[in-house]
Amino acid sequence: MSDARATTGLVAHGLHLARAGRPVLRDAGIVLPPGRVTALVAPSGAGKSTLLRCLVRLVEPDAGEIRLDGRPVTELEATALRRRVGLVAQHPAMLPGTVADNVRHGLPDLADEAVGEALRAAGLTEGFAGRPAAALSGGEQARVGLARALSRRPEILLLDEPTAALDEAAAGRIGTTLRTLAADGIGICLSTHDLALADAVADTRATLPGPA
Ligand SMILES: Nc1ncnc2c1ncn2[C@@H]1O[C@H](COP(=O)(O)OP(=O)(O)O)[C@@H](O)[C@H]1O
Ligand SMILES: [Mg+2]
Repeated sequence: MSDARATTGLVAHGLHLARAGRPVLRDAGIVLPPGRVTALVAPSGAGKSTLLRCLVRLVEPDAGEIRLDGRPVTELEATALRRRVGLVAQHPAMLPGTVADNVRHGLPDLADEAVGEALRAAGLTEGFAGRPAAALSGGEQARVGLARALSRRPEILLLDEPTAALDEAAAGRIGTTLRTLAADGIGICLSTHDLALADAVADTRATLPGPA
């Protein structure tokens, strides 16, 4: 196994987590180097979403270690960690207001051009900026969640089933976006059970053991 202390990017190993007396993660781990796309492929219920939430400390594992550029994430402030490691949830929550308000959330000074750039990178046009976020389709909201994460300029981007609510053409565009981001040096992990997408977009496949 690689030495997590000497590895750049986000590295987790030996993660264990039990909920309600049942194991959710058993010796789970993942290595996300800068500039590479990793597909986390595992069946429903295997713990993909839980692993991604552990990586940004929305969930604390019972055991195991997670390091960002060699430093335990427990030594970082949660807000600083989440600025460097962006998580796009499968169904990102939309806040009241416009799409631009949603992209700007937590970054009130973000310029209009930066909002537009994030929207375009996420596969939306700038014309979405003024629309009420609550009125968008699930697939459009998923892309607003991606735009929100991209506007933070994360070093590592985690996407939980990013194409689940998208048609094939839109999924393909997200795949192209992720390759462009990786070429810029961002380390990317997408969880999916779509093997064709994983093979088309990812450099590496990671997995988790199935449900116990
Ligand atoms: N807070 C929780 N309480 C109880 N069970 C949970 C909790 N979070 C996740 N689980 C269970 O852990 C397992 C893995 O869930 P999840 O990480 O959502 O898997 P996946 O994303 O791979 O479908 C599921 O059986 C789920 O019901
Ligand atoms: Mg999930």
